[in-house]
Amino acid sequence: MAAANTDSILIVDDNPTNLSLLSETLNCAGFRVRVAIDGESAIDLCDRNPPALILLDVQMPGIDGFETCRRLKSNPATRSIPIIFTTALTNTDNKTKGFALGAVDYIPKPFAQEEVLARVQVHLQLKHLTNSLEQQVSDRTAALRQAQFQLIQQEKLSTLGELLAGVAHEINNPINFLVSNINPLREYVEGMIEIIQLYQQEHLQPSADLTEAIDNLDLEFALKDIAKILDSMTLGAERIKNLSVSLRTFSRADRDEKVPTNLHHGLDSTLMILQHRLKSKRDHTAGKEYNRPPIEVIKTYGNLPEVCCYPSQMNQVFMNILANAIDAIDEAAATDKADPIPQIQITTESDSEGWVVIEIADNGLGITSDTKQRLFEPLFTTKPVGKGTGLGLSIAHQIIVEKHNGSLSVYSQRGQGAKFILKIPASPTDC
Ligand SMILES: Nc1ncnc2c1ncn2[C@@H]1O[C@H](COP(=O)(O)OP(=O)(O)OP(=O)(O)O)[C@@H](O)[C@H]1O
Ligand SMILES: [Mg+2]
Repeated sequence: MAAANTDSILIVDDNPTNLSLLSETLNCAGFRVRVAIDGESAIDLCDRNPPALILLDVQMPGIDGFETCRRLKSNPATRSIPIIFTTALTNTDNKTKGFALGAVDYIPKPFAQEEVLARVQVHLQLKHLTNSLEQQVSDRTAALRQAQFQLIQQEKLSTLGELLAGVAHEINNPINFLVSNINPLREYVEGMIEIIQLYQQEHLQPSADLTEAIDNLDLEFALKDIAKILDSMTLGAERIKNLSVSLRTFSRADRDEKVPTNLHHGLDSTLMILQHRLKSKRDHTAGKEYNRPPIEVIKTYGNLPEVCCYPSQMNQVFMNILANAIDAIDEAAATDKADPIPQIQITTESDSEGWVVIEIADNGLGITSDTKQRLFEPLFTTKPVGKGTGLGLSIAHQIIVEKHNGSLSVYSQRGQGAKFILKIPASPTDC
């Protein structure tokens, strides 16, 4: 194998004749050769720059070959270097001892040059194959681990999506009763108020019982308050209705195909679901006392075309990025560096190169350069146990890059907030 011949071989032997014979054989075959004349200097050499293979004499002054082998095998940095013993001691006990210590082969002295070369080459090839196999196993294990996390997350999401869609559906009917009945109720009540006022004008001297009942109710206040109560009921019912629409938009069941989508609806429904986290917040748990004002959301929506995508996956991306932004603002609030007006800015545009670009920026704590490098790694989190799983951004990245052929990048400095820029093709062909 030609490529293997650039490997370096360490020959350890106290006999100059053996050293020069072996060196010459290996040099001629194109190997880089290093030599040591005793066990201790061999161990030093290996520590500094491990060779691809070692030819090790057994009988040497100082520590012998067996002891040298034992020490090399007990050091994790040198453990995997293949060792071939070269010795005149060819009885079975010695051979067995060498193999037991971890040697891969045995070459009897005096050497036949072809045999040395053949054995060295076979063991180097085996070593290369082992290395590449180990690499493949570790790559596959990492890929499997990532796929497993994503499957678990997707499973959770689809269960959650079904649950949300179910709840939204169930809320829909009762909330429609409320919304559609409030207006007739308002008309009846207004009519009744008018009638009461007419009675008051026509019966200037009510009976004692009536006067008492009017006073007990505080009729004047009640008549004014009824209108306000109806207004707030209307508002409340409208909000629940919007939330129900948002829940349905957010959890659109669309796992199989991309569909043309209005991404602004996705962003708005996600914000609606996160509404409770945008409100002002007071945290007085030990060690982090803060009062954070409500988070301002500044939307600068451009003119976006309907984008061909998996809508609920895109909503998941918005949710993960926005939830992180709120976390970062809360973290900043617990320090003395918080911006007085916590803000999240969402900007969308469709650029001249055919991309839809969505920027989500916060003025929270920002990201250190160490964190930035590992941001999209599955399971990487800086949040306490139970708060973050470290999957949010790795999933967002996978959805944008692999599922939508887009890109997700981040700009941030510690103390200066963070900006996530998400790009996906405006008109892909698969819709
Ligand atoms: N807007 C941001 N500002 C500051 N740091 C951020 C921001 N977004 C992400 N990070 C950092 O990136 C890390 C990884 O984020 P990611 O969303 O993947 O996981 P997480 O939020 O920790 O946990 P999870 O989202 O799974 O609950 C976070 O722990 C945080 O340190
Ligand atoms: Mg997160």
